[in-house]
Amino acid sequence: MSFPVDVVVMAAGKGTRMKSQRPKVLHRLGGRALAQHVIDTAAGLSARSVVVITGHGAEQVEAGLQAPAAAATQLKYVRQEPQLGTGHAVQQAAPVLADDGVTLVLSGDVPLTRPETLQALLALCAGEHLALLTLDMPDPTGYGRIVRGADGSVQAIVEQKDASEAQRAITEIYSGIMAVPTRLLRGWLARLDNQNAQREYYLTDVVKFAVADGLSVQAHRIADAVQVAGVNSPLQLAELERAYQKRVAEMLMVQGVRLADPARLDVRGELLCGQDVEIDVNCVFEGRVVLGVGVRIGANCVIANAVIDAGAVIHPFTHIDGEKLGVSVGRGALVGPFARLRPGAVLGDEVHIGNFVEVKNSTLAAGAKANHLAYLGDATVGERVNFGAGSITANYDGANKHRTVIEADVHVGSNCVLVAPVTLGAGGTIGGGSTITKSTPPGALSVARGKQISVADWQRPVKHKR
Ligand code: UD1
Ligand code: CA
Repeated sequence: MSFPVDVVVMAAGKGTRMKSQRPKVLHRLGGRALAQHVIDTAAGLSARSVVVITGHGAEQVEAGLQAPAAAATQLKYVRQEPQLGTGHAVQQAAPVLADDGVTLVLSGDVPLTRPETLQALLALCAGEHLALLTLDMPDPTGYGRIVRGADGSVQAIVEQKDASEAQRAITEIYSGIMAVPTRLLRGWLARLDNQNAQREYYLTDVVKFAVADGLSVQAHRIADAVQVAGVNSPLQLAELERAYQKRVAEMLMVQGVRLADPARLDVRGELLCGQDVEIDVNCVFEGRVVLGVGVRIGANCVIANAVIDAGAVIHPFTHIDGEKLGVSVGRGALVGPFARLRPGAVLGDEVHIGNFVEVKNSTLAAGAKANHLAYLGDATVGERVNFGAGSITANYDGANKHRTVIEADVHVGSNCVLVAPVTLGAGGTIGGGSTITKSTPPGALSVARGKQISVADWQRPVKHKR
């Protein structure tokens, strides 16, 4: 674009039909606030600034949104109190808009507009014209209607409540999105009044001012309703969530990812996949997840903030959440079914973590295995260690966390308690059922449990006679 773009995001409305304490534009879609999608889209257009108009729940909204990462786009907030209509909303933003730019008006509750669509709208505006995004709707009830003249040119937008019978029959509607040269917008905003059925200042009245000023009004008419669909209720939110997930699934499949069923995938963040990744049904990905070449994810896994290296297999019903520390899974590792990897779990190549094993803040070197029913917390585990069923690190003394070091090739039997801080020397063996409170020497068999005794001819108690 040869002109700067300043985006105005309308987000002052109440969203009564959400029936929620949370301001509408903070409800999440694909793991991101509705208005955040709009801000990020604006940043993708290399907008100079994004001005979010807040009103209902303004403080919460302002705290809940972020300036787009790695973009030059400046994020600003303007308050609109009380809310006297969409025209009144944009009037509040006017002081922070510069006359050399084009103002692109978006809504904080319309998250799925494609950047290409907005580019096309800006191209129609070309820094000179008022350009409207419009859509044909089989049922246009409630929307502003696009009134065209005999020559097909746009003459006005008439709101549902102000429309005549004939105008209500028009199926071309205004999407709520327009691009307008800011110097023209400023003049038109000053001319708005609220002489209409709703006693509101309608932004849509700028169309009739443009026409009165002898300027042509452009319309970019699209067919894809999802792009202009707003969220007013939990039902609409869920519908758009599905539409969003379908888009993500299609994008992944275009890249070559094999999804068992694109309708049963939820990406609530960023999912980056190498070649030949396969994902079974009902998996949820959150935050930033990276899957290397040939990774396979079984059904019903929840994976957040993790990097999974090439060839690793995550079996069904595994829960991985790296939160802020992250989780990493090495090449060819096998995890699950029913495993849990928590923040700071770092698994080397070919590590095996089996059913009902929990790993937190622990490093497992290549080839280490904990195949059944175990807990490894705050542990450093060497290569090829075998950690037996039912064994745990007792890392917490009630006040502080301590580390357990298990050197290479140690074999920990079943049902052991390793009371940290403790170090098990390389190549050692820990007898099943041991409670280890002192470090053990390399190569030794260490056993710490009651000695087995047998009492001959043992008489079991018998029932008393009544
Ligand atoms: C508006 C348009 C209508 C269009 C429809 C598309 C006007 C007068 N009408 O309808 O032609 O078909 O959008 O959805 O513009 N908002 C504020 N402050 C206000 C009023 C609204 O910030 O004072 C925000 C709302 O939070 C919402 C957006 O503006 O994000 C649109 O408001 P809404 O009431 O949904 O649209 P309508 O006025 O019904
Ligand atoms: Ca309204």
